[in-house]
Amino acid sequence: MARVRKAVITAAGWGTRFLPATKSQPKEMLPLLNRPLIQYSVEEAAACGVDLVVIVTSLGKKPMEDYFDRSFELEQMLERQGKSQQAEEIRRLSGLADICYVRQKEQLGLGHAVLTAKNVVGDEPFILFLPDDIFEQGKLVLKQMLDIHEHRKGSVISVREVAEAEVGRYGIIKPRKVADRVYEVLDLIEKPKIGEAPSRLAIMGRYVLTPGVFSAIENTPPGRNGEIQITDALKRLNQKQPMHAYEFEGELYDAGTLLGWLKTTVALGLKDPSVGPELKSFLRDRLRD
Ligand code: G1P
Repeated sequence: MARVRKAVITAAGWGTRFLPATKSQPKEMLPLLNRPLIQYSVEEAAACGVDLVVIVTSLGKKPMEDYFDRSFELEQMLERQGKSQQAEEIRRLSGLADICYVRQKEQLGLGHAVLTAKNVVGDEPFILFLPDDIFEQGKLVLKQMLDIHEHRKGSVISVREVAEAEVGRYGIIKPRKVADRVYEVLDLIEKPKIGEAPSRLAIMGRYVLTPGVFSAIENTPPGRNGEIQITDALKRLNQKQPMHAYEFEGELYDAGTLLGWLKTTVALGLKDPSVGPELKSFLRDRLRD
């Protein structure tokens, strides 16, 4: 597996879909079970062995920085109360990865958010995480993507087949199959209309990108919604460098909408041994009503 030293996590959005819950707290701090959403991506990046996690933030995101910092008072209080396992978990959090934060000062789109990490990432490949997308097998998916990056060179994006009616919610690729679950990317289009999509293979929130993406973004004009789209920049990059897509296995949860967040919470809850069995019988009872 190729070793990639840096990960970028975009966390600068306003979280308007969750208002008013996100009025005074970052969307990325909404809990999925007992962990905030952002932690799933940070843990996944750490599990892939990156040295540095770059989180793109904006105004009002400071609670995220505090979350990954040490909290001596809390640790000591837990120790005093004999809750050493919890104290250990709190300590573990701050040691997960070296994290640095860059600010996206204007909300000009996902591509623009990625561009703000340019100087910290420098001239090397990196993993991009869209933290709303929770991959059940995240580490495994990225391992496969890093293998493809190593053997076929260039950027690698994660895709999965979606229903025809859903293509307008995603970036869609035009694929040419080159191996089991691996496609050469011939073209990309952001949120096409039904009937205009070149396939049903939709881009999901994990990418292994070459640093060439930064100049591609710099040369990408605003697209859909007047925003600088990462998919448009990848289309540009694809004309210069090889690009592949990996059709991953395992569940993907989209925690970026209210309904998606609820579904993710229930799905993760059902798998959690401490709450799963009771949650299951609760849901059974409810569904009977
Ligand atoms: C973004 C990307 C899109 C991708 C999606 C995956 O869209 O622009 O290409 O398919 O993430 O979650 P968003 O969900 O920010 O609208």
